[in-house]
Amino acid sequence: MAFMDWQAAYSVGVLSIDEQHRALLDIINRLHGVMSRGGAADELKGVLGELVAYTLYHFSHEEQMMDRCGYPGLAEHKRIHSALLGQVEAFQKELVGGRATVSLQLMTFLKDWLSKHILETDMRYRSHMTSRRAA
Ligand SMILES: [Fe+2]
Repeated sequence: MAFMDWQAAYSVGVLSIDEQHRALLDIINRLHGVMSRGGAADELKGVLGELVAYTLYHFSHEEQMMDRCGYPGLAEHKRIHSALLGQVEAFQKELVGGRATVSLQLMTFLKDWLSKHILETDMRYRSHMTSRRAA
């Protein structure tokens, strides 16, 4: 069993977004794997860097999709994305500066960070997006 498993409940009904959410989940699992086997700081920094980069790419794709189908909650969703990105970037700075390390506490934070965002925020656009077939 992986640190974080995909659940049917995570599906927002849009294939490209589901695939990207799975990719984020994979990166979090890889980070957990590196931490669990006591991987070097550079390796941890590398995987966390991938998480930040992929999150940027994914948020921008998701925002484009919401925009394309005229989703009314776009501005609010963008604000939430930028706060989420800020949280991970702040941790990345701590890690790169040697003031923090990847811990189980951080991993649990990241797991909740992604799953709560999907289940609580992304789900709000589900019916709007799927009824307009923007995928
Ligand atoms: Fe989102």
